[in-house]
Amino acid sequence: EKSPIRVLVTGAAGQIAYSLLYPLSKGDVFGHDQPIELVLLDIEAMLTVLDGVVMEMQDCALPLLKSIIPTADTDVACKDIDVAILVGAMPRREGMERKDLLRANVKIFKAQGESLDKHAKKSVKVVVVGNPANTNAFICKKYAPSIPPENFTALTRLDQNRAQAQIATRMGLVPQDVKNVIIWGNHSNTQFPDVRHAKVAGKGVYEAVQDDAWLKGDFIKTVQTRGAAVIKARKLSSAMSAAKAIGDHMRDWWFGTKGDEYVSMAVPSDGSYGIEKGIIYSFPVQAKPDHTYSIVQGLQIDEFSKEKMTTTLTELQEEKCSAEEFCGY
Ligand code: NAI
Repeated sequence: EKSPIRVLVTGAAGQIAYSLLYPLSKGDVFGHDQPIELVLLDIEAMLTVLDGVVMEMQDCALPLLKSIIPTADTDVACKDIDVAILVGAMPRREGMERKDLLRANVKIFKAQGESLDKHAKKSVKVVVVGNPANTNAFICKKYAPSIPPENFTALTRLDQNRAQAQIATRMGLVPQDVKNVIIWGNHSNTQFPDVRHAKVAGKGVYEAVQDDAWLKGDFIKTVQTRGAAVIKARKLSSAMSAAKAIGDHMRDWWFGTKGDEYVSMAVPSDGSYGIEKGIIYSFPVQAKPDHTYSIVQGLQIDEFSKEKMTTTLTELQEEKCSAEEFCGY
């Protein structure tokens, strides 16, 4: 039997975690032969709720789940972990400015970065989900200098899945028939869902869909604002689909992407496509079974795309400046 991997989920008493913990613990992400030690972090005030989650996890009677450690102590949570799924964050309340949210969350991710630096395995793979996800990941990376920067990522796979689903629905196909959709930039409404390099059942998307106005207009808008549309309808933010996307992100990073296919992950820029180095920007990436990944090179960027990629970069640069200010630079 394989030795267990230790997986941390933060915000473990929240709604995304509630949809994530079952598939994660039954083997859908790291394989059906990979035992797991689960570490669940939430804040002190949520520990009673977290107890309930632990009871349910026990009652799922899962063969791969070797142990569960619930805690409100970040240092305990980060101890010897192989994977960190950082979902916990302060939610945006009504009337709260984006900046206020950033200020509150930057503090959380600074503390978690410092703790990862001290206590996690140096090989730890981190995906930040809590918003503003890209900038939280940037701060986390900044305060964990002993861990390779490329181990810090943020989730844009939900945006990719949303884009694939929009195209597939339009064509009467399933999302898996749509390949190589790219999400560029920030997990926010400035993101650029780019289908110029994507294929639908082997054909280019523009050729298959035959509606340039939709592809350059409503399609992009729908994907950019899908999160808000779900909140409006459900009165709660996306949780089931976010959990599914976290699984997709981690599984592809862990096991590698297939053949020529690529997926979108927000990762530290290496300067590719003129994006400022170090910024956590969503790129098309390919991963290998040794858990390494690289940014797909050589894609042609037209004027339309260039402009959209710059808009979302500018937003990330601004977030980075505010975040660093809040951290006390
Ligand atoms: P939720 O409010 O149901 O759960 C969040 C949990 O995090 C709560 O239990 C809270 O107590 C906990 N938490 C707060 N501060 C913490 C800290 N310092 N350490 C550990 N836990 C902490 O929220 P939900 O729906 O689960 O969403 C979580 C986050 O994910 C939000 O920031 C949301 O905006 C973001 N999100 C990101 C998506 C993406 O694609 N990147 C998609 C959907 C949501």
